[in-house]
Amino acid sequence: MIDLHSHIIPEVDDGASDFEEAVNMLKISEQDGIRTIVATPHVFCDRSEIKDLEKIPEEFKKFKEKVKEFELNIEILQGAENYFVSDLRERLNSFSNILTINKSDYFLIEFPFEFIFPGIKEFIFNIMTDGFIPIICHPERNREFQRNPALLYEFLKIGAFSQVNAGSFKGIYGAEVRLVAYDLLKFNLVHIIASDCHNLEDKEPGLSFLYEKLRVIQKEKIDMLVRIIPDSIISNKPIPDIGTMKDPNAKISFFDLFRRKLK
Ligand SMILES: [Fe+2]
Repeated sequence: MIDLHSHIIPEVDDGASDFEEAVNMLKISEQDGIRTIVATPHVFCDRSEIKDLEKIPEEFKKFKEKVKEFELNIEILQGAENYFVSDLRERLNSFSNILTINKSDYFLIEFPFEFIFPGIKEFIFNIMTDGFIPIICHPERNREFQRNPALLYEFLKIGAFSQVNAGSFKGIYGAEVRLVAYDLLKFNLVHIIASDCHNLEDKEPGLSFLYEKLRVIQKEKIDMLVRIIPDSIISNKPIPDIGTMKDPNAKISFFDLFRRKLK
């Protein structure tokens, strides 16, 4: 498996608190069957310690070097979790080698938990004209997407992709997030599942539990979300077709309407 979203580099954000924790996170990932993990520290938000972007490749290199002595069977790649800021387009164009996943065209984009900025559709369109492909991080945790999953559907229709957190299916962010994560799967609006691991306690690494937890969906489908699509991304290849995405507003039950209205 390939874990496309993690906070394993110590002391650069709210992820691994020290080197020991980072190594243990890697060991757990390795035992879990993860063969590649992308280190994606937060940038451009208050959870980030990184003021100078050049620090990312430096810290990454240092970490990779230090980890070598443990001879772990896991490859570590460099990426970033880009918080949306008004000049993100300019920043991506200037620092694409640092801000994209493994220097590919793909990049992770994160929104605030409470809302979605206006103009995101235009941003997605423009950034794609520049040759970048956005992957929306954990939409199930965003209140606006929870209230209106059709908005995510619109973003995906114009070419963005979506990455749901593995922990959302366990309920680590609460019952509502879990319900939305399952809904997004049902609507076929999920392309990747990644750990977004931050530590060893409440946001821990691991993806293999999904095969048991999501046994209602086919094994081949889970393979797609944790192996095949992540592999296309790190290799900078087109993402394979996951089938027709369903418009969440096309057939809405009274129960779902009520749930969304409550938010
Ligand atoms: Fe993250």
